[in-house]
Amino acid sequence: MKLLSKARLLLLTGLIVTGLAFAARARAQGPIPSGADIVQGALLYDNWPAALGVQPPAGNMPIWDRQTTDTRSGADTWRCSECHGWDYRGAQGAYKTGSHFTGFPDVMTLASGMTVDQIVAHLKGSDDPAHDFSKYMPDTSLTQLADFLKYGTIDDSHTIDPVSLKVKDGNLQNGQKLYTSVCATCHGTDGEKIVFRSEGVTQFLGTLAVSDPWQFLHRTRFGTAGTNMPVGYELGWTVADGRDILAYAQTLPAGAPAATSAPGSASSAPSRLLGGPATNLLTGILTGIGAFLGTIFGALVFILILLGLATLVVVLFRKRT
Ligand code: HEC
Ligand code: HEC
Repeated sequence: MKLLSKARLLLLTGLIVTGLAFAARARAQGPIPSGADIVQGALLYDNWPAALGVQPPAGNMPIWDRQTTDTRSGADTWRCSECHGWDYRGAQGAYKTGSHFTGFPDVMTLASGMTVDQIVAHLKGSDDPAHDFSKYMPDTSLTQLADFLKYGTIDDSHTIDPVSLKVKDGNLQNGQKLYTSVCATCHGTDGEKIVFRSEGVTQFLGTLAVSDPWQFLHRTRFGTAGTNMPVGYELGWTVADGRDILAYAQTLPAGAPAATSAPGSASSAPSRLLGGPATNLLTGILTGIGAFLGTIFGALVFILILLGLATLVVVLFRKRT
């Protein structure tokens, strides 16, 4: 009898320790962001003054003067996308050369090693007071930016040819189907119905798809701030759907001078944007499944602890009597 209760006590201690460890882990990971938060974070990343409907601060972002290679000034210097790129890879990605080169870091890789809280702290100037955006947007927006960087970014580096900027192995049929059903009403079947002016140059959707595949992907997946463009992420598109639509758009008439494809020739519609639809969705689903299993496991551990406690009470009670 004594032996048995010792074994039970041991088991109980083990269960409690495991339960505490799981609770601590769950708290450290924090809540999983909603799809709406990720989309809003992506719009803020693109152009936060436009996404919030506010005027950009006057002058250049204070960090801007630490480089001289990108000669833009004013509003563009405040955009996350201008310093960190539409592929989120900064100087490691599409902006490693060309007129957008700044040498500023790859936030996709950095954010993957940070918690959402750490990213928010950085956006409040914790490490570098010049990188403080808390004066310009509420905490919810900073958290949405962090949610996007941590959970929403998609790595398209292996599916876009670095020289031709064309999608490798895109499914043109799927791309055409999606384009015709979702995009053609506004952009026209040939992509020429909406005319873009990028740094003084007239461009069509087909031009942008070739000159700025990453911006194209980002905006196709997450929308364009200030427009009612459909958001692939909300339509449930996969990562591959986004790339397929880009591949199809790259076959549309370009209609503009080839010179516009020089990297970094655009200001508000930079020539090197990222953006493919959908990598996030898979990650999102996986995260969701993970969270679900985690919750069930946590609940089981909790029940086991309760059972253990009940057993302990019974054992102690029996000893007394
Ligand atoms: C003017 C250029 C510039 C702009 C605009 C800018 N950043 Fe940065 N960012 C930097 C530089 C430079 C660093 C390197 C560390 C530092 O000085 O903050 C950095 C670092 C970071 C880091 C990594 C932090 C770390 O601990 O390593 C994150 C995340 C980040 N930025 C996100 C953003 C987001 C989100 C926005 C838009 C709200 C943004 N940045 C706007 C230049 C910029
Ligand atoms: C409801 C109308 C509408 C629909 C539908 C629509 N768009 Fe757009 N799109 C716009 C508007 C408006 C703009 C912004 C035009 C501007 O900046 O002058 C835009 C901008 C864009 C841009 C940004 C170009 C740049 O500046 O870099 C891309 C890329 C784009 N659309 C792709 C698509 C794709 C792909 C689809 C289909 C999934 C689509 N759009 C569907 C209205 C639409």
